[in-house]
Amino acid sequence: MVDTADIKRRFRKFADLECKGYSDLYYQLALAVSEDDDVVGFIAGMPVTQPNLFFASIQLLTGSAGMPATGSDLRTFVKQRGREISAVMRWRRTQTNEVGRCAVLLPALPSGPLALVEVGASAGLCLLLDRFHYEYGSTRIGAASSPVQLRCTAVGPVPLPGAMPQIVWRRGLDVSPIDVHDDDAIRWLMACVWPEHHERRRRLEGAIDLARANPPTVSAGDLVDDLPAMLAEVPDDAQLVVFHSAVLSYVSRNRQQAFAEVLADTSTRRDVVWLANEASGVIPEMTALAPSLSSLRFLLGRTRFTNGQRHDDLLALAHPHGAELAWL
Ligand SMILES: C[S@@+](CC[C@H](N)C(=O)[O-])C[C@H]1O[C@@H](n2cnc3c(N)ncnc32)[C@H](O)[C@@H]1O
Repeated sequence: MVDTADIKRRFRKFADLECKGYSDLYYQLALAVSEDDDVVGFIAGMPVTQPNLFFASIQLLTGSAGMPATGSDLRTFVKQRGREISAVMRWRRTQTNEVGRCAVLLPALPSGPLALVEVGASAGLCLLLDRFHYEYGSTRIGAASSPVQLRCTAVGPVPLPGAMPQIVWRRGLDVSPIDVHDDDAIRWLMACVWPEHHERRRRLEGAIDLARANPPTVSAGDLVDDLPAMLAEVPDDAQLVVFHSAVLSYVSRNRQQAFAEVLADTSTRRDVVWLANEASGVIPEMTALAPSLSSLRFLLGRTRFTNGQRHDDLLALAHPHGAELAWL
């Protein structure tokens, strides 16, 4: 059993740092949980007490429109349907495939032809980034008719490309990939999108439709152990780009280093561009280059590996779901 005071602190922190100004509903509910001994007692009996997992489990049962609206509704719901919430929380782990992050990655791509490898690709939706439409203020990129419409506020000298880069090869790797044809997995993916985030839900649905018509290849595997075999398949006549977002926080520092060593080794045969879009603090080399931050931001880093040598650049600060990109 976890310390209930810790859970209260965790929900309070989640409310203040992640929800305030981004989801009134989760802000109010997370604050209410942080002061509710009954609900906290229920959460303390779960193997994982993460706020996102608790709320997503409820949303899976209620749908986004039926989510409890107040702390007292939430307490009643937990009392009435605790057994079902518990079953979801014991079986599931939070999962996202946030295509909004492609608006952050696109300006950081080198010119093509490109071979893309995404690690921690989930359902592989971000591998379809050249099939989306992007709006950076008055600059538009991509097919206007795309079912995925991404809007991103560009701050500073963002090097917006004049056209979509040519992507000639793409593969994903994920320890637990999502099959876009698996309705149950997709329902969970949707439940992990916060209820008021209608635009995020719409673009996720659009990306799933695109992927169902033309699924990206995502292999099951670990981002260190199984990466060399995947990189060996990449065609020679394209610039290799290995990228990820919201992934390296799931692996230890040693595994992060082992991942970078795979890229360095590969660069003794061919140049490698590594794009990392991760929360501040996850990659020490990028965090060391970052200014101090007053809100939750991802650090967009680009590392070029040539002949085993690495050169790191911190390019930008990014909203975690790609709503803003501030170039440094
Ligand atoms: C938060 S999701 C992010 C998904 C996607 N990159 C995005 O931005 O939408 C993290 C993903 O990393 C995957 N993952 C975690 N550890 C991994 C590992 N060691 N090797 C490969 N994938 C991993 C998870 O299965 C999950 O799909």
